[in-house]
Amino acid sequence: MAIERTLSIIKPDATRRNLTGKIVAKFEEAGLRVVASKRIHLTAAQAGAFYAEHSERGFYGELCDFMASEPVVVQVLEGEGAIAKNREVMGATDPAQAADGTVRKDFALSKGENSVHGSDSAESAAREIAFYFSGLELVG
Ligand code: CMP
Repeated sequence: MAIERTLSIIKPDATRRNLTGKIVAKFEEAGLRVVASKRIHLTAAQAGAFYAEHSERGFYGELCDFMASEPVVVQVLEGEGAIAKNREVMGATDPAQAADGTVRKDFALSKGENSVHGSDSAESAAREIAFYFSGLELVG
């Protein structure tokens, strides 16, 4: 399988509860390597631009306000089949549906406050990585 890169966000509900290290440990235990990482505090407008594809959804305003409510940790994860692997480690969007041992099963509070985001395709990964990082910040 090819080596891929994917964009991960550790969301405000998780940074607030000091869960960053526990979540990164799950990525690393699954063979994903953190090749870029920073802690930032998004504005609601920046969150809105990142989630523009959801702008017609009923939860869009709530999602933008939540993502701007506390700092987030944005990371690029690298590894074999990293996009699918990260989604496996995260678990289903709704923690009630997430498999045992996944980040969302262990930590998420709700469908909205669901602790992590991960790119859902190669196209999304390329766009989402470029949204947060310059090439100089991807250090391998
Ligand atoms: P994420 O993987 O970051 O992609 C879009 C986000 O929208 C999703 O995780 C959830 O946090 C959020 N989301 C999806 N469905 C709902 C919903 N019904 N109510 C609130 N937030 C939602």
